[in-house]
Amino acid sequence: MTMINRSVQTLDEFTIQQLRMFPKATGELSRLLRDIGLAAKRINVEVNKAGLVDILGDYGSVNIQGETVKKLDVFANNQLTGVLRHGISCAGVGSEEMDDLVIFNDEVSNQSKYVVLFDPLDGSANIDVNVSIGTIFSVFRRVSELGKPCVEADFLQPGIKQVAAGYIIYGSSTMLVYATRRGVNGFTLDPSIGEFCLSHPDIKCPEFGKFYSVNHGNFFQYSKGVQDYITQCQKKTEATGGPYAQRYIGSMVSDVHRNLIKGGIFMYPGMTDKPNGKLRLMYECNPFAFIIEVAGGKATNGKDRILDIQPVELHQRSPVFLGSKGMMEELESYL
Ligand code: AHG
Repeated sequence: MTMINRSVQTLDEFTIQQLRMFPKATGELSRLLRDIGLAAKRINVEVNKAGLVDILGDYGSVNIQGETVKKLDVFANNQLTGVLRHGISCAGVGSEEMDDLVIFNDEVSNQSKYVVLFDPLDGSANIDVNVSIGTIFSVFRRVSELGKPCVEADFLQPGIKQVAAGYIIYGSSTMLVYATRRGVNGFTLDPSIGEFCLSHPDIKCPEFGKFYSVNHGNFFQYSKGVQDYITQCQKKTEATGGPYAQRYIGSMVSDVHRNLIKGGIFMYPGMTDKPNGKLRLMYECNPFAFIIEVAGGKATNGKDRILDIQPVELHQRSPVFLGSKGMMEELESYL
């Protein structure tokens, strides 16, 4: 018989403990995180089965970004939308997989104070080859009047207004990592009890690391500053402790997770033919910028802090550079 280790704190226990520190808190955020955790467990089951069942391959449709949608993306999108719709903490959602916002507009949801943006399955091109993928989410407190349906302005807020942001990584183990202004905490799914258990309390991103993560294939499309920095990463110098090791799996959740824990820098720069790069501000850049900053790192678009960017549309892209503070400052001296 599996014995439950009572010294291990589950995600629910942890969020409730945090809640008790604020007697006026309503518990809505805890419930929201629990809902996202539930969707994550369901997505995890399907991701783990991906090699076994005929769920691989293209779903056929093409998403707003012009990419072919995989079946698991659709499943993950539906799970997240479903749990948040049926919960009591979320007034509406925006997803990388959906052209438009979904405003729940029912009596309970209209009283909910949060809206959520998510990339249901980031790195999905990696599903077919058994590489870790992830879900990314971002939570804003709505600015519109409670009691009415939420509106686009609730979603189009700069990243600094995020109340929480996080990701789930479906890897050699499944982890949920989330940040609030109070800190970043990581929970590993214990499959024997089906619970996320606190495994990485109060994560801090080391000030310097050994890794730089960038798509080298695009090198000649980057600006001279970015090229110079990448070249510098490959050199041995006293000041930086380089050369750094290049690590790039093509799944942002995995690349940033590694650099968050071990120290490093992740870059998806603008390119000559795509000046805003590839990654989406609301679904990828903002949540990771928030997590990295709370953990002590930095995140910019090469000029400005990611979290200060006022979004103009839901699916906009942005160049992104984020990671260890010391390495980011080194990069800034080249840009
Ligand atoms: P997708 O979800 O379409 O597979 O995109 C993944 C994202 C991100 O997770 C990753 O860092 C980046 O795209 C990789 O893009 P490149 O292949 O262009 O390097």
